[in-house]
Amino acid sequence: MSRLLIDGGYPLRGEIAVHGAKNAVLPLLAATLLADGESVLHNVPPLSDVGGCLEILTDFGCRVRQEGRTVTVCPDQADKPVISDRLMRRMRSSIVFLGAMMARFGEAHLSYPGGCELGPRPIDLHLSALRQLGAVITEERGQLHACLPDGRFHGETVSLAFPSVGATENILLAAVTADGVTTLLNAAREPEISDLAAYLTACGAHIHTDGGTIRIEGVPRLAAAEHTVIPDRIEAATYLAAIAATGGDGTVTACCPQHIDTVLPLFSEMGCQLSVYADRVRLKAPRRLKRIPYLRTMPYPGFPTDAAAPLLAAATVADGTGVFVENIFECRYKYVGELLRMGARIKTEGRVAVVEGVKSLSGAAVDCTDLRGGAALVVAALAAEGRSAIGELQHLDRGYADPESGLSAIGARIRRVDP
Ligand code: EPZ
Repeated sequence: MSRLLIDGGYPLRGEIAVHGAKNAVLPLLAATLLADGESVLHNVPPLSDVGGCLEILTDFGCRVRQEGRTVTVCPDQADKPVISDRLMRRMRSSIVFLGAMMARFGEAHLSYPGGCELGPRPIDLHLSALRQLGAVITEERGQLHACLPDGRFHGETVSLAFPSVGATENILLAAVTADGVTTLLNAAREPEISDLAAYLTACGAHIHTDGGTIRIEGVPRLAAAEHTVIPDRIEAATYLAAIAATGGDGTVTACCPQHIDTVLPLFSEMGCQLSVYADRVRLKAPRRLKRIPYLRTMPYPGFPTDAAAPLLAAATVADGTGVFVENIFECRYKYVGELLRMGARIKTEGRVAVVEGVKSLSGAAVDCTDLRGGAALVVAALAAEGRSAIGELQHLDRGYADPESGLSAIGARIRRVDP
């Protein structure tokens, strides 16, 4: 397995661009199943999760083409409403295809996504909402079999017990061609949801969003459209954390600063000077970061759970102690054990992590435990003294496209080596 070798202690200086958002492009690819003709998506990040989605669409019988960061999908000949067990295991987030598969094919057969590095990944909110919209879904021996007795979803008022991103996406994809009006209450409000709604609207859907309420008037058919994927706000936050943790002075470009407007104040609190422009953020770090006294993750527009790990890594070398509270996933601290191997001082108890900043970390051999935990290890290794070797990169490659290129261009001593 390949590893990232990082010689830490070098301040990052220069410009690094972010890619299209992983968590936007996955539901967008599911949505192309609903639109007759050839949809074109631009700014598609070259990620393994995207590759998984393209395989799923191809297995449905869609015509899929990828040229650089542009993907075209035509579902007109698609007729296989099945996602293989192999792809479901590779892509837990492929549950977001369920609503689109049923709307397109009238049925769907896939395996239960199962737990992952962040704890159990229940889909009860997805299933109960789709059942309210007319789906009959049976779960047996880890398999899901779903069908629409009336051939179409029917509009309903659905209220989510939790503003689940995935459930909101599934309901959107089911409702846009449903018979009647659907009102979704307590919907997720992440920018990736707005991006999905923008594409669906371009395809002819009738979607009205008012804060956490989304009203969808079903239309009979959707027509293909062209769409550019929004920038990845978590990748932007990750690179800012790396610049901050190394005492650097760098600019993250091709991003959307307003999507991280609950993250940026934390960098200011750590003593960083920020210059925010329309599509870029410049961060000038102090010699030593101040602590983050308290950080709690919340659904958007609160602090995003995915950005907590990279910031916690930066906090390990800050001056003082801080408390991190994770309110979205059950066990988001698997990577902490790897940070301890680098000399970090962290105590975790359930959803709480207490981080006592140390003067410096020391490079070590560590392994990614999950995607954002892997990002935390890269940030820590860039700040550490000496060499780190980071393994299990398949986790990192799900959400960061070729990070070593962008980081080495701003002064990081980082390279990927095969065994
Ligand atoms: C999406 O996951 C993102 N993934 C996650 O990013 C992100 O952390 C999360 O939203 C929250 O913002 C993609 O978009 C592919 P949820 P999702 O449904 O949809 C519970 C990353 O690193 N829940 O909002 O799975 C669930 O267990 C990934 O890029 C139920 O209980 O998140 C969790 O505790 C990680 N029942 C909470 O809600 C359900 O039916 C939030 O889950 C669904 C969810």
